[in-house]
Amino acid sequence: MNIHIFDSQEKLNQAGAGIIIGTVQTKQRAILGLATGSTPTGIYEEVVREYNRGLVSFRKTTTFNLDEYVGLPVGHPESYLVYMQQHLFNFIDIPAEQIHIPDGSLEDTLAECKRYDELLADAGQIDLQLLGIGHNGHIGFNEPDHALLRETHAVTLREETRQANAIYFDSMDEVPAQAITMGMGAILKAKTILLVVRGAEKAEIIHKALTGPITTAIPASLLQTHPSLVVLMDSEAGRLFQT
Ligand code: GLP
Repeated sequence: MNIHIFDSQEKLNQAGAGIIIGTVQTKQRAILGLATGSTPTGIYEEVVREYNRGLVSFRKTTTFNLDEYVGLPVGHPESYLVYMQQHLFNFIDIPAEQIHIPDGSLEDTLAECKRYDELLADAGQIDLQLLGIGHNGHIGFNEPDHALLRETHAVTLREETRQANAIYFDSMDEVPAQAITMGMGAILKAKTILLVVRGAEKAEIIHKALTGPITTAIPASLLQTHPSLVVLMDSEAGRLFQT
């Protein structure tokens, strides 16, 4: 595992964007696994900046997002599809048909999970999987549990996860109760995983996840088993690593 701690958000964003762009530049048909949340926004901004400088093209890139809320109508401002459009896809030259995000607006969630896994299986292996970490150690929406699932699945969000995401909605009642998430299988199968962590409130969980026991109670701890894990942290999140 390769841990980097940055003393500024700018340097962290540049490092993260550099890894994404490097993957797209070196791999003919790169497959990126992408994440949402507050953590990757600065990295996407930096990717767009570099794209505008003409340094990279996404015409041959395919993307798979980690997750999507269940029950939000298509085009809902807090859906992860809209998030991705507003932070990345609207500003780069990726063809729409090469973008994949689970569709949480469909009646048949089970069929949608199956469809997503078939797309992932056809793609083979994600070259670079970008990840954030939830306050409870979740990755994607793989919540702490007695067992973790390999496949894409629907998940009932834990109360602390709904609360963490409530800032994006007008009231707690509007925060979806369920989501579709890529399972641990596709995440751990990625060639390289790029885990990004920011802020003092993540310091303890990231330290536990990367140095404590590997346990399904902290899904991110399974990343310790990955042969190519790059972790980018700001100094607040990385506080417990700097002893
Ligand atoms: C969200 C997402 C995750 C994300 C995590 C942390 O709910 N499902 O993919 O990594 O929780 O979010 P944030 O970056 O906003 O702290």
